Amino acid sequence: MPATAPRTEMRRMPLSKITAVARASIHADAHELWDTPVDRSRYFVCPTTTPLYYAKIYHQLASHHQIRYNQLTAILFSELISYFESQFAASVCAAIAKSKGVDAGLTECLNRFVADEQDHIELWRRLSRLSEPDWYSESGWMLFRVTPPVAATLQLLTRRPQWFPMVYWIMLALEERSLDLSRRCIKMETEQIEPHYLWVYREHLKDEMRHVQIDWHLIDLYYSNKSSTLRRCNARLLQTAIGRFLLPPTRSAVRVVQRLAEEFPELNELLPEMKRQLRSLAENAAYQQMMYSRETTPITFGLFDRFPEMHRMQTTLLSYCPVRS
Ligand SMILES: [Fe+2]
Ligand SMILES: [Fe+2]
Repeated sequence: MPATAPRTEMRRMPLSKITAVARASIHADAHELWDTPVDRSRYFVCPTTTPLYYAKIYHQLASHHQIRYNQLTAILFSELISYFESQFAASVCAAIAKSKGVDAGLTECLNRFVADEQDHIELWRRLSRLSEPDWYSESGWMLFRVTPPVAATLQLLTRRPQWFPMVYWIMLALEERSLDLSRRCIKMETEQIEPHYLWVYREHLKDEMRHVQIDWHLIDLYYSNKSSTLRRCNARLLQTAIGRFLLPPTRSAVRVVQRLAEEFPELNELLPEMKRQLRSLAENAAYQQMMYSRETTPITFGLFDRFPEMHRMQTTLLSYCPVRS
């Protein structure tokens, strides 16, 4: 998009409307579904959301290898999303709740936000246990790991959002990405996608649409009023976080292909090349477009436009070109 193009007008939902939508929200009943086993012949997630799909080597794999890669990646997604919901979003919401003068309408929205995420964590874990019962009998994490320094940094950032309001941007970007993940899965042919996963992605979408609106409120309330110096520092931190952790395939994504090769020893010869191509995806335009773009993260990009310090994201995100008013 040219930098001189007019800015698209975005409408934020008022807090009262978010609360009204939350009160009216009903999740579909799925008791019978959970009594059935996972269908291992189908995709667990839309293939276009998986990193290796954007590498040449993916298209050289046999279809049963592609499907298993897809399933392992979906299991990793469940771990990643539940980690974010349990460790990141909940901690930020708790820190806001402790601060003085929080509007009653926002408090109600945040309470519901936290309750929703508790329900989601249960759903992701249930899905993981059903998919791989042996893996999750003791630990909640099989493919995803956070190193102690990263965990300590996340704790510092999320407990002090007044100093690190970049956490609201991370919440918005990740929740918009999870909306896109759900939408792509819902658009798939019904017989291609595994029914338990489809159900969870569909139900998750209902709540995440509200959460994205709340994240937008948090940026307006607690980021936009900070000094330009603090905002510039936070924009740099956000750019580092995106460039190092939130954009490129991480070590967990490498662990997925390692696991795939363990399950299919005939892939051992291809493993080094799979890893090499995975690592090179950070510079791949189609991969970046799927991860962050005006189509997949429109509110995040629209808000980047409003804050000049966020225009620096164009040096990390290939699909971001600031639109100035
Ligand atoms: Fe969620
Ligand atoms: Fe959420």
